[in-house]
Amino acid sequence: MSGSWSPAQIPDQDGRTVLVTGTTRGGLGHHTALELARRGARVVLAGRGQGKLDETVATIREEVPDAQLEQLVVDLSSLDSVRSAAGRASAIGAIDVLVNNVGVMAPPYHRTLDGFESQMATNHFGPFLFTGLLLPQLVDSGDARIVTVSSMAHRMARTAPVEDPRSSQGRYRRWPAYGQTKLANLLFTFEADRRLAAAGLPVKALAAHPGLAGTHLAANGQFGRSRGGVATILDAGVKAVSQSAAAGAWPSLMAATADLPGSTYCGPGGIRETRGRPQLVGCSSLARDVEQQRRLWEISEEAVGLRWP
Ligand SMILES: NC(=O)c1ccc[n+]([C@@H]2O[C@H](COP(=O)([O-])OP(=O)(O)OC[C@H]3O[C@@H](n4cnc5c(N)ncnc54)[C@H](OP(=O)(O)O)[C@@H]3O)[C@@H](O)[C@H]2O)c1
Repeated sequence: MSGSWSPAQIPDQDGRTVLVTGTTRGGLGHHTALELARRGARVVLAGRGQGKLDETVATIREEVPDAQLEQLVVDLSSLDSVRSAAGRASAIGAIDVLVNNVGVMAPPYHRTLDGFESQMATNHFGPFLFTGLLLPQLVDSGDARIVTVSSMAHRMARTAPVEDPRSSQGRYRRWPAYGQTKLANLLFTFEADRRLAAAGLPVKALAAHPGLAGTHLAANGQFGRSRGGVATILDAGVKAVSQSAAAGAWPSLMAATADLPGSTYCGPGGIRETRGRPQLVGCSSLARDVEQQRRLWEISEEAVGLRWP
């Protein structure tokens, strides 16, 4: 069974502003930005390297010569970088859709300057702060949404990441740690949606996952790069067994543009959610645990030094 949604259903995006994080060429963010630009959206591409942003802009313009593209340099693993980028982003004005797509998967152990394990820093705390700082611009849209890219890997998490994030107690296990960050993406989405609604703000939070998509995620995580030696081989191997990165972006595009309520989770409707056209999908009971959602929110506010909404 596969879902029935396809990008042909994306309504005209003329006059809308979308900010997509993690837009390196060949990844889900690139394809999300491409399709929205094709439909006339003004798209702000956010990534940590100017060179990679330029590369994606050039690639999108090959297909959509008149695309309205802007760039924002931000390292989501650094709270300082996020604060600085959010300051520069105020010039963008109202934002209709924020796609929190940035992610790293199972890298070697590393603590950021802020004292967080690097996957939690990049996949959750940075996006939590970034979204909170952009909230006034989302509110200005009058009808905005936050789309956060999670993963089937959220089901690997046996516990929610609600311990002190600066404590380095316990052995680092890269895959369970990744699963916890993807669980955090869902806990964040459901709690954000509830809090935004309670505050009477015109912003919804939704989530998406791409199934298995042929991007640079695995090679980036294992080798810190997607090209050169074994990284090239792993990158090619992942592509051989996955749906395309373009198809992997469809659930994000559905969550960003379809007429859906907040707290909706979109994913591929094909074989075990690994591929196919997107539809609404379920998540683990832990992701729906309201107490864990609340605890992660409070810990995140404390960790990044921002209370929102
Ligand atoms: N591909 C899949 O099968 C799959 C499955 C489930 C979930 N996902 C999720 O999909 C999302 C997109 O991943 P992808 O598959 O498209 O992988 P990708 O090709 O590696 O893209 C990840 C993007 O995140 C960026 N990024 C990483 N760390 C960053 C940082 N500190 N600051 C700013 N940008 C940073 C990368 O930039 P650089 O190029 O500079 O590293 C890249 O643009 C992730 O959240 C991932 O967890 C993917």
